[in-house]
Amino acid sequence: MLSAHDVFSTKITWSREISRLIDKRCVSCHHEGGSSFALTTFEQARPWAKAIKEEVLERRMPPFGAVKGFGDIRDDQALTQDEIHLISDWVEGGSPEGDPALLPKNPHSEIWTRTPAKSGAELIVDGSLTLKHAIAVVGIRPASLTEGSSVKVVAERPDGTVMPLLWIYKYKPEFDRTYYFRAPLNLPSGTKIESFPSTAGAISLVARN
Ligand code: HEC
Repeated sequence: MLSAHDVFSTKITWSREISRLIDKRCVSCHHEGGSSFALTTFEQARPWAKAIKEEVLERRMPPFGAVKGFGDIRDDQALTQDEIHLISDWVEGGSPEGDPALLPKNPHSEIWTRTPAKSGAELIVDGSLTLKHAIAVVGIRPASLTEGSSVKVVAERPDGTVMPLLWIYKYKPEFDRTYYFRAPLNLPSGTKIESFPSTAGAISLVARN
């Protein structure tokens, strides 16, 4: 007898496509001992299939952790539309496992061996700071923010113009990342970097090498 479980209406399988996609985009956090539950095997991922589809369709996963449109930030970890369709079609088609022989030979090798990208000097801003030298800033990251805090960071140039840099929303340490700007920001000496509220903790500006 065939159970409803065995009726798949998609050719997309865990073994061929989905394991590779999850490995590349999700497993850095979702592994045994990681910041969230493991999604490294079909057995682990299968019960989460519906939730996975929902999280990626709503663009809640992978997490951005900041408010879009405040600051000229590049969402370099977001899934492409094609990747979202792939996951969604797999789940709607019954999330089949497929042939385990097609699993990647070396899963997670990329993630476990990845060393942090080389970045330039960092400037810690705890509340506010006035630049003594001009700098080109390529990114910004939480340095020691209080968990759960929401903080807006702006730059006020000496001519009085105010530029939004980043708005972290309900900070979660497990979502930690560096937010890169679409283009480096040239901030002249005398620019004042400010966080609101100033008591939320420190952020770090990543300068160009
Ligand atoms: C930066 C780390 C990180 C990445 C990358 C990430 N997640 Fe998550 N994910 C989390 C954390 C932490 C939670 C726990 C819930 C929370 O705090 O919001 C979570 C929760 C979830 C949940 C449960 C949501 C719920 O409560 O029902 C699903 C499903 C999920 N993630 C899927 C994914 C998928 C699929 C990807 C890749 C496309 C992904 N995640 C990438 C950190 C991450």
